[in-house]
Amino acid sequence: MIKISPSILSCDFSKMGDELIRMEQSGADMVHFDIMDGHFVPNITIGAPVVKCLRNLSDITIDVHLMISDPLKYIDDFADAGADIITFHVECDSDIDDTIAKIKSRGIKPGLVLKPNTPAWTVFPYLEKLDLVLVMTVEPGFGGQSFMPEMMPKVKEIKRECQRRGLNNILIEADGGIGRDTIEQASEAGVDVCVAGTAVFRAADPAKAIELFKSF
Ligand code: DX5
Ligand code: ZN
Repeated sequence: MIKISPSILSCDFSKMGDELIRMEQSGADMVHFDIMDGHFVPNITIGAPVVKCLRNLSDITIDVHLMISDPLKYIDDFADAGADIITFHVECDSDIDDTIAKIKSRGIKPGLVLKPNTPAWTVFPYLEKLDLVLVMTVEPGFGGQSFMPEMMPKVKEIKRECQRRGLNNILIEADGGIGRDTIEQASEAGVDVCVAGTAVFRAADPAKAIELFKSF
């Protein structure tokens, strides 16, 4: 069954705590925190202090997506804030192996993220060290964009490589433009976790939306 990680970027920021609890009560498997530095992507969102204050409200898995240029510098901050999963971009400026090692040293699950134009093979050298690979299905930076179906072959390629190596516990996460019209092709391609921001937070009934998405 596909897991759903609603992106907090699409929530009502004036009620972020209530929205997090609402997602937990609506059956979300985890909550996705989009961290942007205005340098790696052209937008600035939230930082570790916000994650820290929300951590105390719920035990739900906190899935932190770092869209920042130097993630290695901030792993301790997000670990101290209570992240359970930290994904960062293979295109970033930090040393990938050092950043993965730092995340693991804090007892957190590491994942690598690929932008749409980044080929699957770029993460192959790191697969044995990862718990998760996140395939962007939009250009990172904003919620509410259209899903890029041309990313599905990349999902299949990564899935095949993981299976070839016997790495059957690595989760493939898709992120961007996931909704009722696109989740089926994500599921068919082998996606294990779908990030859904707009499709959940703008739904009349988020719990029904999550229930529907999990049925694919
Ligand atoms: C984009 C973010 C995504 C985005 C998803 O840079 O990484 O997580 O917020 O939002 P929707 O589901 O609305 O595309
Ligand atoms: Zn994201």
